[in-house]
Amino acid sequence: MVVIRERNIGIGLLGLGTVGAGVVEILAQKSASYEKNLGFSIELIKILVADSHKTRDIQTNAKITTDFIDLIDDPRIDLIVEAIGGETPALEYIRKAIDSGKHVVTANKEVIAKYGPELIKHAVDNGVGIRFEASVGGGIPILRPLSRDLLANDFNKITTIINGTTNYMLTRMRLQNENYSAALEKSKSLGYAEPDPTADVEGIDAAYKLAILSSLAFKVRVRFEEVYVEGISNLDLADFVYAKELGYVVKLLAIAEKFDDGIQVRVHPSFVPMEHPLAKVNGVQNAIQLSGDLVGSVILEGPGAGKSPTASAIMGDIFEAAEAILEQKKLPPYPFGGNAAKIQHIDLLHSQYYLRIKVKDQPGVMAEISRALGDRDVSLASVIQKDLAVLDGSTEIVVTTHSALEASVRDAIASIRTQDAVIDVFNLIRIEEVIT
Ligand SMILES: NC(=O)c1ccc[n+]([C@@H]2O[C@H](COP(=O)([O-])OP(=O)(O)OC[C@H]3O[C@@H](n4cnc5c(N)ncnc54)[C@H](OP(=O)(O)O)[C@@H]3O)[C@@H](O)[C@H]2O)c1
Repeated sequence: MVVIRERNIGIGLLGLGTVGAGVVEILAQKSASYEKNLGFSIELIKILVADSHKTRDIQTNAKITTDFIDLIDDPRIDLIVEAIGGETPALEYIRKAIDSGKHVVTANKEVIAKYGPELIKHAVDNGVGIRFEASVGGGIPILRPLSRDLLANDFNKITTIINGTTNYMLTRMRLQNENYSAALEKSKSLGYAEPDPTADVEGIDAAYKLAILSSLAFKVRVRFEEVYVEGISNLDLADFVYAKELGYVVKLLAIAEKFDDGIQVRVHPSFVPMEHPLAKVNGVQNAIQLSGDLVGSVILEGPGAGKSPTASAIMGDIFEAAEAILEQKKLPPYPFGGNAAKIQHIDLLHSQYYLRIKVKDQPGVMAEISRALGDRDVSLASVIQKDLAVLDGSTEIVVTTHSALEASVRDAIASIRTQDAVIDVFNLIRIEEVIT
């Protein structure tokens, strides 16, 4: 027997920080128009916070509580929106919401990157669904398109800028000539970087998102720990100067690429040719370039974080879940995960490289560096030599290579480091090609 229910969806919201407040504000402003357009109403019933005494600049009729069970036991709540973040207690709350037969929408990249496939299975087993569009790319719709509109494609590469904080910092370092510390301070003062910026600047946040994106796009299970990660904290302004001279901009890219014998998932600073579409993505913007066999290259660009863009993504998930609830249909699980991915080690990467080496100003140094590279089949594409004699009697040599095996380049660097005239080998930066 089909039970006729009211055209009303009850929401329980976990967290009233940046994202939670965005959801509350959107619902306060737009509920009436959503009801008119969608044919059902959405009612925010209860909100869970850590501190119910905190002064908040937000108006809501929903009950604010610190008791999670108060939401779980409320039969009017059909759907839990999780906007707490982190693993504890968010993971437990998501599991309990599913146990109690409520659908879940979450913005939590950490939980989804680590436990996404298990949570999807748990939801299916309990006859509910879970959606997590806001966990990757903030306001950019990417997970639903990958799971539906672009599902017919086989993807061979995803190239992304998916951390707004680092993209903002790198943009400042390039355009304002600011060093790393100054760019980080500016980023903190604007609220783009957390007081502890480690997850952003060391590439961890981007690795969570890449694990989710690549699992969905390649339909295999990519674990967060399998993503090769280098952050931006070792970048020096000198690298930006040389990048410009060579025709590149520096970006923190998160890349997933499929090969016959496995996939590569990596987050690291890259030299991106100025004509590459991602080179023009500046500030806190994010962009995702997908290369599919049917559709070719597709680029989605937009705000990767922020109150309203993230709440926009959450609302999309709420609408989809609400329709399934009201039509008493299943919310189809995303094709997320599956068999464990065969991950290719970073040593097997073939790429062009940029290398900056500080040497004593004496004859024959360049020849020895060239020999160390040439002996390992790494051929030079360009060489820049800058005399730093005024500073400390040293010279800086910058080389770029043609495409080479990463293991060979690393082996060459180890050999170069042992040379008498070599003072230090600074950044090894991979050079990204343009995909059309
Ligand atoms: N901020 C963005 O632009 C953005 C973009 C995309 C995705 N996300 C994701 O969205 C989620 C939320 O981020 P946010 O920036 O909104 O975080 P936030 O501003 O730090 O807010 C966290 C909220 O969770 C509540 N909370 C924390 N611990 C709790 C606990 N143990 N029990 C109950 N409530 C608890 C806090 O309560 P109190 O208010 O009482 O302290 C606060 O309201 C994260 O997963 C984040 O990765 C954020």
